[in-house]
Amino acid sequence: MNELQKTICNIGVVPVIKLTNPLRDAGPLSDALCEGGVPIAEITFRAAGADEAMKIMLERHPNMLVGAGTVLTTEQVDKTIAAGGKFIVTPGLDVEIVKYCQQKGIVVFPGCTTATDYHTAYKLGLEVLKFFPAEQSGGLAKIKALSAPFSMFKVMPTGGVNLKNLADYAACPVIAACGGTYMCPDKLISEGKWNEIVDLCKKSVEIVKEARA
Ligand code: 3PG
Repeated sequence: MNELQKTICNIGVVPVIKLTNPLRDAGPLSDALCEGGVPIAEITFRAAGADEAMKIMLERHPNMLVGAGTVLTTEQVDKTIAAGGKFIVTPGLDVEIVKYCQQKGIVVFPGCTTATDYHTAYKLGLEVLKFFPAEQSGGLAKIKALSAPFSMFKVMPTGGVNLKNLADYAACPVIAACGGTYMCPDKLISEGKWNEIVDLCKKSVEIVKEARA
């Protein structure tokens, strides 16, 4: 694992975020994440202005680890790099985007859930994969089954991960970190309930710490 991947692994969770009003919400949300002990954000391109949100967060917290999620095009990779984003997450495994990220020197986590995906990822020289959608694709049982032939990978499950099953995922040595939207739900963001987001982050960090102990 490279330094960035190790940092993600140490934090243990990755909030997956959609910001429909980045100018209003990106700043206070980054404050809440940092206060909650989760100084990392995967800002998805599910809403316009993801790159703007990344810039705002990084201006406010230069040491935060900010990257892009739901990246579907190389243009979005370029926008992320221009905004100062440090990693790319894609929902599926797209060889063109992975190679483009490798050329540009930005870390990429493609979504993989099958032996075929893993095999392709192996040939691309990847070490850490997103496992998406985790629960719907067989969850921990499938992650463990795939780790038998592909023991070289660590994975970041997202999709159906929440406070209820976080401990089970985090306790598995194949897991680098767990991701999800549950830490930053749309409703809490739109209502500006930053303290509740701080609490969700703190709880998540605590669960991961205990599960790994
Ligand atoms: C993702 O892109 O990682 C997922 O949509 C997260 O899924 P969740 O909403 O179930 O956490």
